[in-house]
Amino acid sequence: MVEKVKLRINNKEIECDKDLTILDAAKLIGVLIPTICFHGHCTANALCRICVVELKGARTLIPSCVVKVSDGMEIETHNQRVNLSRKTILEMMLSTTDLSQSPEILKMAEEYDAQHDRFPDAERRSPQLIDDNSMFVRDYEKCILCWRCVQVCAEDAQYAFAINFKGRGYHTQISTFYEKPLPETSCVFCGQCIGVCPTEALKPKRQWLLELGYESEEIMQMTRKDRNKNTKGPQRTKES
Ligand code: SF4
Ligand code: FES
Repeated sequence: MVEKVKLRINNKEIECDKDLTILDAAKLIGVLIPTICFHGHCTANALCRICVVELKGARTLIPSCVVKVSDGMEIETHNQRVNLSRKTILEMMLSTTDLSQSPEILKMAEEYDAQHDRFPDAERRSPQLIDDNSMFVRDYEKCILCWRCVQVCAEDAQYAFAINFKGRGYHTQISTFYEKPLPETSCVFCGQCIGVCPTEALKPKRQWLLELGYESEEIMQMTRKDRNKNTKGPQRTKES
């Protein structure tokens, strides 16, 4: 039997299993803490920090998706300090990344009153869209570096290890080893990375072509041609 602990969340006493995270314990009493990088089927890495909460006595805010509960904790999930931190994180994301196809993050930004132009001098990430196979495109302009795709491609699901990080600091980006085109890597085109991507940075190629305005017959021909000849698809905009 799992050992129990007692703690307080938003002034409410709760008794729960010792192996729960603060995020899960809060859920038990109906308190929803926002998350972005966290995914229920991926290993949590606490990268985005949107889920931070205040723990009485701790110097810094702590990420609730990875920190486990313990006896006597006193937690606040939505006080002024926490909300300001979340708002600032969202404003930084909005300043650097194309979130136009991330409705959940945009909704969160609205809830926290995050300003789209808070950091007008921030350099936007705008790498070229990568279209190197017939199955899916990679548009890292939309990538928030949540690491989910890397995790599912590795030990969390597929054990293919086709993708990883490249670069450091601001220049960090998801990539393949030696930046090889996907067909030349260990990728098996399972699509798990697309399934967990929260921003549509990874997208099925047929969906991408539909969004560009191509008809389904044209798309079938283009993606078949791609598969047979292993050629590149169209550019970002449809040619007239
Ligand atoms: S491509 Fe998508 S899943 Fe992968 S790190 Fe970027 S946002 Fe996350
Ligand atoms: S959701 Fe916890 S750090 Fe991203």
